[in-house]
Amino acid sequence: MAVGIFDSGLGGLTVLDAVTRRLPDVPFVYFGDNAHTPYGVRDADDVYRLTTASVARMWDEGCDLVILACNTASAAALRRMQESWLPADKRVLGVFVPLIEALTERRWGDNSPPREVAVKHVALFATPATVASRAFQRELAFRAIGVDVEAQACGGVVDAIEDGDLILAEALVRSHVDALKRKMPMPEAAILGCTHYPLMEDTFADALGPDVAVYSQAKLVAESLADYLARHPNMLGEDGETRFLTTGNPRKVSDRATQFLRRKIEFRAA
Ligand code: DGL
Repeated sequence: MAVGIFDSGLGGLTVLDAVTRRLPDVPFVYFGDNAHTPYGVRDADDVYRLTTASVARMWDEGCDLVILACNTASAAALRRMQESWLPADKRVLGVFVPLIEALTERRWGDNSPPREVAVKHVALFATPATVASRAFQRELAFRAIGVDVEAQACGGVVDAIEDGDLILAEALVRSHVDALKRKMPMPEAAILGCTHYPLMEDTFADALGPDVAVYSQAKLVAESLADYLARHPNMLGEDGETRFLTTGNPRKVSDRATQFLRRKIEFRAA
């Protein structure tokens, strides 16, 4: 048994990196659906179909617990999966919850009425599908009042990262930050609401300026997973190596992953 980390492509590696640092003894199975990336331009049914197919494949690898390290799948498919698809002995968790907990300074199960929080102006950078879902704003509104969220759909950034074209990715990030700032000139916090974006975190931070706190989703997810596994030790993997699977071209995906994580990563065909 191993804990599964799923993404449409390479972005979930930012989460994998953080969880392996936080939980060095836990074996993980990373699954990138690179053949079908990007998810962020697909409709919710398509994202649901692709995500469930990938997660079912991860069960065959012994993953009873899968983290959707993909905001698009978390926003467009997770609730439907949990409500009508998931068998009782499996768990699938998303990446939204730790982020909302950090921003609202309270635990997920806290059902008290929404209250004021420190941060009032939040810039959300995410894929077109995540922005269209409004999932982030909906979850935030249950818990916090008076928070103004301006969302920027960052078209093209995931494709450029997957293609390894970081010059294009940087230019796109700067133009999306400019577009956001035209709508909200002085955000206090920025959420990188797509797991690919931390690969461009320096560019986001530089374009946003020093007064904007950039929330690192990967570290928050790692803390949250450590907490979850401490409470559910039966979901912990046994001894074994971390493995990497892709629906794409394993050689190409391995090269990109090695470039991004700056250590040798070898994917095999899913
Ligand atoms: N990395 C994913 C996310 O967090 C998906 C990006 C995509 O495939 O468009 O949204």
